[in-house]
Amino acid sequence: MDGVVIKSDAGIESMRTAGRLASEVLQMIASHVKAGVTTDQLNAICHQHITEQQQAIPAPLNYRGFPKSICTSVNDVVCHGIPGAKALKRGDIVNIDITVIKDGWHGDTSRMFYVGEPALAARRVSEVAYRALWLGISMVKPGIRLGDIGHAIQTMVEAEGMAVVREYCGHGIGRVFHEEPQVLHYGRPGTGLLLEPGMTFTIEPMVNLGRPETRTMGDGWTVKTRDRSLSAQWEHTLAVTETGVEVLTAHPGDNENEVAQKIGAAPYRHPLVQFDT
Ligand code: MF3
Ligand code: CO
Ligand code: CO
Repeated sequence: MDGVVIKSDAGIESMRTAGRLASEVLQMIASHVKAGVTTDQLNAICHQHITEQQQAIPAPLNYRGFPKSICTSVNDVVCHGIPGAKALKRGDIVNIDITVIKDGWHGDTSRMFYVGEPALAARRVSEVAYRALWLGISMVKPGIRLGDIGHAIQTMVEAEGMAVVREYCGHGIGRVFHEEPQVLHYGRPGTGLLLEPGMTFTIEPMVNLGRPETRTMGDGWTVKTRDRSLSAQWEHTLAVTETGVEVLTAHPGDNENEVAQKIGAAPYRHPLVQFDT
């Protein structure tokens, strides 16, 4: 397809570094995500870590006018939440989305955090979004089409009685933050881009507990569920390998075999991060 950039081995190596740094920001911030902290404070801690510890650039800052270094999306916020003065409270769920640029290459990853004990519905939507991400990852290999992945994610999420957001999607990534292809989290089998080794893109399903529709707030960024139901999202940056997939932003807690069990797939051959599908 036009515009899909195949990365060289050197490019993938640079993206491993950027991906690892993005993942490390999520690890670093985890202990700070608790009741009473403001999302502005989380933004400041991440900004400092990225710029000073990592000598990297927070990609969201000034991206198309986005005013902060990370996105924080709380409860009914689907994505692109702007960090602000409001404190987190017990029972909130929050997605923190980190994108760093290191040596000109991007790594993009996000995950949900619970503030205190989540209500059952909050836990369910977060877990379904996590399974949706890993169901998608587990399918990535040369020869499969993006529509196959979108269809599988949509089918699973809808079988849980939840909905996949249509207006936002995963994306190609590399030297450019958002490039081709668009990675829809819904679709028809046998359609869409045929995957090849060296392609790099994100999968980042947004799952709503209620209806799929969204509404953008007056700040021009914050996207909420139209029905104000809870929404959850998890994201990884991936590379298509000769035989499967490499998760460039793997979190230390990601255990593919555990995930494989959850989604009913065969166990993977490699213990972590890189595996054949
Ligand atoms: N990190 C988001 C993504 O997954 C994009 C954020 S763009 C911003 O693609 F401007 F809101 F930061
Ligand atoms: Co992304
Ligand atoms: Co992101």
